Amino acid sequence: MVSILVLNGPNLGRLGSREPDVYGTGTLEDLAVALEAEAPPGHRIDVRQTNDEAELIGWLYEAVDTGSPVILNPAAFTHYSYALRDAAALVTKAGLILVEVHLSNPHTREEFRHTSVISGVATGVIAGFGFTSYLLALDAINRQLG
Ligand code: DQA
Repeated sequence: MVSILVLNGPNLGRLGSREPDVYGTGTLEDLAVALEAEAPPGHRIDVRQTNDEAELIGWLYEAVDTGSPVILNPAAFTHYSYALRDAAALVTKAGLILVEVHLSNPHTREEFRHTSVISGVATGVIAGFGFTSYLLALDAINRQLG
């Protein structure tokens, strides 16, 4: 059984109550249920969240070591974490899929959100569709694996 790691950065543990007009009213648990319902055969969905950059980097190393595809919402780290970018590059350089996702479309928001330091090393990017961004990422992984 291969895990698909669904990794969420800072403040995403507050989904449901955090700026619902921007991020919706669903919680991370609701997201996990929706993704688990669409897990490809032979794969399990492992949804995690941390506010800690070092922990997120450690999870990307784990993806490399276990050969796990990754769905990554780097949250605010998207915009400035070169350390996270370098760790994400390890995943894609290892030949594994890493899909960068965002609930909102950062390009419609404040200027500082228009830059992603992660996109340049991601396999692909999906943004602006709420939880559907993650489901589309899972579909992309499924199709690539198939
Ligand atoms: C986000 C967008 C980021 O700009 C923001 O810092 C987040 C969430 C999104 O999913 O839309 O925390 O990654």
